[in-house]
Amino acid sequence: MKGVVLAGGLGTRLYPLTKVTNKHLLPVYNKPMVLYPLEALVLAGITDILIVTGGEWATDFARLLADFKSFGIRNLYFAYQEKPLGIAHALGLAESFVNGDKCVVFLGDNVIEGNIIKAKERFERMERGALVLLKEVPDPQNYGCPILDENGRIVRIIEKPKDPPSPYAVIGIYFYDPEVFSIIKTLKPSQRGELEITDVNNAYAERGLLEYEILEGWWGDAGASIDAWLRVNNLVAQTGANKLKL
Ligand code: G1P
Repeated sequence: MKGVVLAGGLGTRLYPLTKVTNKHLLPVYNKPMVLYPLEALVLAGITDILIVTGGEWATDFARLLADFKSFGIRNLYFAYQEKPLGIAHALGLAESFVNGDKCVVFLGDNVIEGNIIKAKERFERMERGALVLLKEVPDPQNYGCPILDENGRIVRIIEKPKDPPSPYAVIGIYFYDPEVFSIIKTLKPSQRGELEITDVNNAYAERGLLEYEILEGWWGDAGASIDAWLRVNNLVAQTGANKLKL
């Protein structure tokens, strides 16, 4: 399985911290943010990784990760997203890297206390489809939020709903079969002018091919707001991240 870390975007929600650097290079406790998703992938045995980034500071990632082998990464590649056209658009740039395999996509600002090993093993057993991770949160209106049916299956995901249909956030870690790249090619930009990852997940849900796991341990989207970034810093300082056992 290949790993894709998405680390582009403008980081406007963390402005002015992001005026002179990429959001994913900001510190989270004692390390640049992007090292957390990379560590999480390596911990799950995923060591062929592509980082998609963009903007003025893309080359800083190469300097940060020059000794990638010492992090346990086997092969590290970069793709450059010329314009911030959304998460699904960034993933589209990974098609030749993924090359017909399954992949796990990790948003570069998502930090977790535990690991994705259980979800990865389940997805490996799935013949086709996609698997997302959910976490109960106090503010589902700030994320993708699933509508679940009486059997607990995801009917549809609503992106940042005013009136959340469930207490869960769809977190920024997604497992996809190779079909994902054909789905991305059918997407139309959303109102914010981006190709939305939620539309990708809904295409799987419509086909009855979207599964989920509930993530154990805390989860934080360090890029969601200054407060979310501060919270993730404190959580990492207090409990540590990317643990094999919780
Ligand atoms: C993105 C996704 C959203 C998801 C979130 C997780 O939101 O669109 O569905 O819940 O990541 O971090 P963004 O942070 O880009 O607004």
